[in-house]
Amino acid sequence: MIVYRTKNDLALHLDAIRDSGKSIGLVPTMGALHRGHTSLVEKAAGENEALVVSIFVNPTQFNDPVDLEKYPRTLDLDLEMLQSMNVDIVFVPSVKEMYPEEDNRTFDLGNLDKVLEGEQRTGHFNGVAQIVSKLFEAVKPTRAYFGQKDFQQLVIIRRLVKLLNLGLTIVACPIIREEDGLAMSSRNVRLSKEERNLAPFIHITLKLAREKSGTLSPAEIKSWVTSQFENQPLMNLEYFEIVEDKDLKPVAEWGDKVNIVFCIAVQFGEVRIIDNLIFD
Ligand code: PAF
Repeated sequence: MIVYRTKNDLALHLDAIRDSGKSIGLVPTMGALHRGHTSLVEKAAGENEALVVSIFVNPTQFNDPVDLEKYPRTLDLDLEMLQSMNVDIVFVPSVKEMYPEEDNRTFDLGNLDKVLEGEQRTGHFNGVAQIVSKLFEAVKPTRAYFGQKDFQQLVIIRRLVKLLNLGLTIVACPIIREEDGLAMSSRNVRLSKEERNLAPFIHITLKLAREKSGTLSPAEIKSWVTSQFENQPLMNLEYFEIVEDKDLKPVAEWGDKVNIVFCIAVQFGEVRIIDNLIFD
């Protein structure tokens, strides 16, 4: 496994791979790797001849400096984990390497970055678009892998690829959950014991809401979910929305819409948890 710190060194290695006609997979991460990430790495390793995992805590996507400071950083453990998975190349740039100067680009993401997470975290998705476009430029991957846990991010990255006219495939990977249903996330380590014990309630509520979609309207489901969280004093429901998977437009009635996503965000002490359930 080779760890590169600069775009130039990485490009030299990747140019040779590309010139020999081989496919390159990219798994972008912010580190603090868990089984959600390793599932992306396994999928990417199986579908590409070379694989790059990037580890970079991107400052431009944090609108809260405390969140950026507290974001878990476990580089040595991450590298050990990737080594044990036979990853070829890891890219661990510095902030200066990725942002030698301020990035003032704003991406026209339509309404996609205004709803759901976008309402709570102004500028977050523009920051994601900035770094992901830079990583795509540095790696020029054949395929890039993103988890469905950050569903809105996935939709936005698909839009970004179209916007920038990039010839690469975005591969969506299913949410990996703990045995009790909590979606894996690097932020989960910041939950207190009590919060961690209560956290599966989020996924359980989503599943019950899906069951109820046979008999209740979207509006009725929304108020049912809201009422469930009223009985949970430690959890503050930020939003629960029912949206279409392609464009995140709110669903007002079931009609013949087939691809529906329940999206939820819950503030839990200092930690924000997001989760979703996709109906296929
Ligand atoms: O999902 C993440 O971990 C980050 O948003 C990403 C895609 C690596 C960009 O920093």
